[in-house]
Amino acid sequence: MINTFADYKKAYRRSVEEPEAFWDEIAETFTWRKKWDKTLEWDFHEPQVKWFQGGKLNITENCLDRHLEKQGNKTAIIWEPNDPDEESRHITYRQLFVKVCRFANVLRQNGIKKGDRVCIYMPMIPELAIAMLACARIGAVHSIVFAGFSSQAIAKRINDSQCKMLITANEVYRGTKRVNLKAICDEALKDTPSIETVLVYRRTVEPTEMQEGRDKFWFEELQKATDDCQAEEMDAEDMLFILYTSGSTGTPKGMVHTTGGYMVGTAYTFENVFQIEKDDVYWCTADIGWITGHSYIIYGPLAAGATTVMFEGIPSYPDYGRFWEICEKLKVTHFYTAPTAIRALARQPIEFVEKHDLSSLKVLGSVGEPINEEAWHWYNDNIGKGNCPIVDTWWQTETGAIMISPLAGITSARPTFASLPLPGVQPTIMDDQGRELNGRRESAEGRLAFKFPWPAMARTIYNNHERYKDVYFSTFPGMYFSGDGAYRDATGNYRITGRVDDVVIVSGHNLGTATVENAINEHEKVVESAVVGVPHDVKGNALYAFVILYDHVEPSEALEKEIREIVSTTIGPIAKPDKVQFVNGLPKTRSGKIMRRILRKIITNDIENIGDTSTLLNPEIIEDIAQGVK
Ligand code: WTA
Repeated sequence: MINTFADYKKAYRRSVEEPEAFWDEIAETFTWRKKWDKTLEWDFHEPQVKWFQGGKLNITENCLDRHLEKQGNKTAIIWEPNDPDEESRHITYRQLFVKVCRFANVLRQNGIKKGDRVCIYMPMIPELAIAMLACARIGAVHSIVFAGFSSQAIAKRINDSQCKMLITANEVYRGTKRVNLKAICDEALKDTPSIETVLVYRRTVEPTEMQEGRDKFWFEELQKATDDCQAEEMDAEDMLFILYTSGSTGTPKGMVHTTGGYMVGTAYTFENVFQIEKDDVYWCTADIGWITGHSYIIYGPLAAGATTVMFEGIPSYPDYGRFWEICEKLKVTHFYTAPTAIRALARQPIEFVEKHDLSSLKVLGSVGEPINEEAWHWYNDNIGKGNCPIVDTWWQTETGAIMISPLAGITSARPTFASLPLPGVQPTIMDDQGRELNGRRESAEGRLAFKFPWPAMARTIYNNHERYKDVYFSTFPGMYFSGDGAYRDATGNYRITGRVDDVVIVSGHNLGTATVENAINEHEKVVESAVVGVPHDVKGNALYAFVILYDHVEPSEALEKEIREIVSTTIGPIAKPDKVQFVNGLPKTRSGKIMRRILRKIITNDIENIGDTSTLLNPEIIEDIAQGVK
């Protein structure tokens, strides 16, 4: 593990000068059935990337078996239920191992073999972790669909990768609500001919409708299974999972991750970014339905032998102090969440925080979008009490593992900067003409690309390699293009400025909507904002800002003016939004991303063509915003 800044610099230099030797050494610390013949083969034009070719392993032997001897009785997963009165579950490595083996046998009994795709649509319960690891144990490819997606979205994903089995639960608790997941699945299953079997875990005692011959209860199947399950031998480049992520078109992209590189990459980044120690209790609040949950609730932490927390509920139930209550109760040392959650909690009375003892916390993390300065400070002051380094981790579904981030307490953590690339990661900044802005000791702003492969990167888009090439490798030939904009200061620290797909050109000037939003968010009365471009007769585009104010603040023209002014003084008069509309909420995906595409449709009065809103967290907000459009 990297312990000092000098270690970091040394590791980084080595990872660039001798990447193969660097990763060989790290990979050797894992359990392989057979060592690899070739560390790396790559070509970003094809594109093709292979790590640890010829190596044989099973990732669950690394996440489970190898820990049994030394720490079989250590807690692997602590599960915290939605209802604080229901008991938490503490599952040791040995118990998890047995559960995974047994459920893996259930999969085998039901005809699942190496290479088969299995769709998992489950709430945040330990059985979700067990199901995914059981797939990995027998070499089946899991495709987890976040249990908040609609039937249509499930069907689309199942059909794209021709899943043979669907694993779900009858119901899920979310705050005061209970959602019938099985009914949503049944709707999806009307249109998914590849599915042969549905396994249903009973989360509640409610009666569940089962289709004869197709649907089976988890518990009944378990009774027929033994505990002993030989792990399938996988090639390092065999597919581990598919995870869908949205693209610029309506069709989601099934990102394919493979076994060896993903394991090495997630475990290495987990240990080093968070600086995990033996008795730490690590909690990532993401849902396992997203990449953050795959890499940093399950695979990374378990490969590293850590204790990982899984939370079933939501931050506002039974009240807005729930996150902090759990931190106190479980003595959480590492807390990793998203800026959108931080901003939502920062809006609440501070008593929700102050009621709880947060002294166990050592490290805080942020992921998913740029964290604005105000939220960063709130997090630092109120949650970390100024004592916990904040790791602002930049990465993507496609990158599989963290790419740019401080290492907790080792490299500097400055608000709004994801800071430095991790060892093995070679970022660069490109201008619009495709030229690399690689001047030393000067700052640069442009598009974020990567010049060299890293082990955890996605290898392709399932059944659509052309699209993979087109989206990621054609903008800057020979490089991976992230789709994000970034600024690099003269000391080499990176700040992510947001998706470049959200760049708006106003009077010939490129403006990052995220940059404008950051400026607006700095206003003390503003909680959050979203800026989009609208067609403008003279300027080509103009900026339109949607702004959420703190609860007690009255909207006014004077405030509108102040908001324009703050943008003007932070960025320049050119970035001043033409219109400012105060709103009660913004259309967001369930992972917290603002859907600017929908905002554009609302402004241009094109609500009929808004498309599928079933993946939104709050579809009702659309009408509300439309009524206030200027
Ligand atoms: C954004 C989530 C700024 C970025 C792991 C990226 C971030 C997209 C950060 C990937 C961060 C993620 N700072 N922006 N720390 N982390 N992003 O695939 O635009 O859900 O391209 O992966 O989120 O989102 P995804």
